[in-house]
Amino acid sequence: MASEIEIKRQVREFYDHVGWQEASDGFYQNASYEDLRPVSHDYIHNCHLRVLRHLHPSGRLLLDAGSGPIQYPEYMEYSKGYQRRVCADISLVALREARKRIGDHGLFIICDIANLPVKSNTFDGMVSLHTIHHLPLDEHIRAYQELYRSLAPAAKGVIVNGWDNPPLTRFLNFWIGWVDRLYAIFRSQPIVTDRGKDSLPSANQTVSRGTYVRKHDSTWLQKEIGSLMPIQIWCWRSVSVRFLRTFIHERFAGRWFLKILYSIEELFPHFLGKYGQYPLIELRKYE
Ligand SMILES: C[S@@+](CC[C@H](N)C(=O)[O-])C[C@H]1O[C@@H](n2cnc3c(N)ncnc32)[C@H](O)[C@@H]1O
Repeated sequence: MASEIEIKRQVREFYDHVGWQEASDGFYQNASYEDLRPVSHDYIHNCHLRVLRHLHPSGRLLLDAGSGPIQYPEYMEYSKGYQRRVCADISLVALREARKRIGDHGLFIICDIANLPVKSNTFDGMVSLHTIHHLPLDEHIRAYQELYRSLAPAAKGVIVNGWDNPPLTRFLNFWIGWVDRLYAIFRSQPIVTDRGKDSLPSANQTVSRGTYVRKHDSTWLQKEIGSLMPIQIWCWRSVSVRFLRTFIHERFAGRWFLKILYSIEELFPHFLGKYGQYPLIELRKYE
């Protein structure tokens, strides 16, 4: 088992040399873990914008913990009403790229989010998207505590991270497994991975995570984090990229299906936040 320092070194090296290198069409390699096909665009876009509902619309400083290069246009919206966006990341390449995007609106700190070099009660808003899962498991609590500590009284923050094998994903993976098997029987051509096109079938396009990732389940979060600070679990996105690539296609009414899925997520945000793939965890600091 690698030490905590070694894990962080591996993660940093991965993002410096792979994740934040441009892969194609102006996208970073990291975007290959997302579904960027036109058929899924509106759904993915609207899920990204859900974050805004859980932040104060304006303030002095917004912390982006594990900012990466602020890779999607929707991410820019989070700090629009804030004077400055403080990007904190372990990867120098991430921060250089972020600076190209937001220039003087940004302040940039190279650091570990489990040991934030900032005063308590500093930020009016905070986002941390898909980052805590890169920390060694026994540092997750400390990362939540650091993010909470950095928030000003009454400030709000949003953390998005996938669950470890949630019930809805387990159920859907069962059906994805069947699609994989059927495809293996009927296919006559080798599978060609084509992220940019709405091609069939994508069930086999499981992309390797590439670096260290460890996740918890909702029981852990409620017990370990819910006892330390006020949290609320909402739905960010209930289905995985693997599900989207397998079942969502233009010619099978994919857009229509995703509109319905989005409406169902809006109707049952707490249920699908808890049992779906990606929760949005809202933190609100006591006044
Ligand atoms: C999956 S990327 C997410 C980037 C961005 N939040 C997004 O959603 O596109 C994870 C980011 O977290 C950073 N990271 C990983 N471990 C970190 C740590 N311990 N402290 C600070 N940043 C870290 C990585 O360098 C990388 O930029």
